[in-house]
Amino acid sequence: MRVAVRLCSAQLVLELCALGILGTPQDIAKISKGTPVCNSFNVHKVPGTLYTGNTSLGNVPILEYKISELTSFDSSFELRTLDPEGIIFLGDIGSVTNWFLLAVQNRHLSVQTGHSKGKVVMSRGPLISDGKWKKVTVKKLQDGVSVFVNGEQRMTVEQSQESIDAEHGDGFLRIAIGASIPNSDIPLTIHPPLDACMRDWEWVKQDSSVLLQDSQTQRCWETIIPGSFFPGNGVVGFLPEALGNSSVQRSTAGEEDQSWNLLVELTFLPVEDRGVLFAIVDPLRNISFSVSMNQSTKDLVLHVRDQVFLSTPTPSSLCTGESQFLQLWVSEDQVMLDLEGKMVKRKLDDQDFRFLKAIWGQTGTMVYLGGLPEGESPFHGCLQAKLQGVDVDLDLAEVKSGDVRSHSCPSALHVRDGK
Ligand SMILES: *[C@@H]1O[C@H](CO)[C@@H](O)[C@H](O)[C@H]1NC(C)=O
Ligand SMILES: *[C@@H]1O[C@H](CO)[C@@H](O)[C@H](O)[C@H]1NC(C)=O
Ligand SMILES: *[C@@H]1O[C@H](CO)[C@@H](O)[C@H](O)[C@H]1NC(C)=O
Ligand SMILES: *[C@@H]1O[C@H](CO)[C@@H](O)[C@H](O)[C@H]1NC(C)=O
Repeated sequence: MRVAVRLCSAQLVLELCALGILGTPQDIAKISKGTPVCNSFNVHKVPGTLYTGNTSLGNVPILEYKISELTSFDSSFELRTLDPEGIIFLGDIGSVTNWFLLAVQNRHLSVQTGHSKGKVVMSRGPLISDGKWKKVTVKKLQDGVSVFVNGEQRMTVEQSQESIDAEHGDGFLRIAIGASIPNSDIPLTIHPPLDACMRDWEWVKQDSSVLLQDSQTQRCWETIIPGSFFPGNGVVGFLPEALGNSSVQRSTAGEEDQSWNLLVELTFLPVEDRGVLFAIVDPLRNISFSVSMNQSTKDLVLHVRDQVFLSTPTPSSLCTGESQFLQLWVSEDQVMLDLEGKMVKRKLDDQDFRFLKAIWGQTGTMVYLGGLPEGESPFHGCLQAKLQGVDVDLDLAEVKSGDVRSHSCPSALHVRDGK
């Protein structure tokens, strides 16, 4: 029997096709030569696993099978995630009405499927985003399509007549993993990237070994913990309003003297003791404010514009595998910085305060985590950020470069949870 497995159905996915050839041990250790490591960890990723979160650059793995050659529509895999939202897979039979989406929404499993006249049927399932491996099975039964989690039947959605008819046609079944099918018109309400890992998959009882990648970026760590992993080559930038309106106080006319404060809380564990942790970048891409680690002086440095505003020695626990907690509070007359319980304060003059407040309120100002806009001064390690009291979800980022993992870190880089 000829099995039509195509990994690359569109030009978009060519990059991933090349990976099988290009993936070399080079990407195993991203630590540059000659750089002393602060906290080392085992960078090994497990063969036979598939990381589903790297789809933003068009790296969408797509399986395609000729329907007339299929004997079953049943699929199963194991999934592990800490991400509250994203696509697990989307299957379609070449039309806007015949599709089936399995996703994570509000940390729960969710099924959506298209019926005639654009109607979408949804069903919410059990909690999935707890970082534990779960076996998920999707089976076609008499009364519809059922989803089983660890062997228990948890959701069933009715199948449309069109979809039943299509299964007897001569079209193609396409399965996109971790993302939507490129250029499809399927109306999805889910923000796609899912920081998750898959293993032991079997798709429609067909060969899908093509999903096994040599590249380390397509594989997963053995165990994970909550946090965001910055590999030392990636950075994330987002608009303050992505965190919700309360975090942006734009002064409108008549509200000039409205008070403004900035509160930044970072829990982190560095692999290298250098790089920018946090920065505010104005619409012209000038760095207005930044917090970084200076490797040669072993200082934590705060810059306002391009001047050093405050500098304090990093704690001796920085490179002993303990997670660090940093709290930064900018208010009208001072800047307070608390790093692992050691507090430093400096008076902020009126001009600098007005400058920061104005930059923050400007449309187009961005907050960067783990480096600067052009990827300069990258941070390498695990980080959890809270801004204005709101947990930062990196999936809401405007800019995300490199292999940054939004909701997972290798468990060796354990950061204390949500201080
Ligand atoms: C946030 O701001 C937008 C646009 O100004 C507004 O439409 C929305 O209702 C606001 N949301 C909240 C929760 O205040
Ligand atoms: C911002 O950058 C532009 C050009 O890069 C420069 O002309 C300007 O002086 C900078 N503004 C500030 C406030 O640093
Ligand atoms: C670290 O501090 C030294 C001494 O102040 C300075 O010369 C150097 O440029 C700083 N490095 C970075 C990356 O900021
Ligand atoms: C995705 O994988 C490619 C190739 O391995 C890598 O170059 C790229 O940085 C990754 N992108 C993201 C967003 O993870």
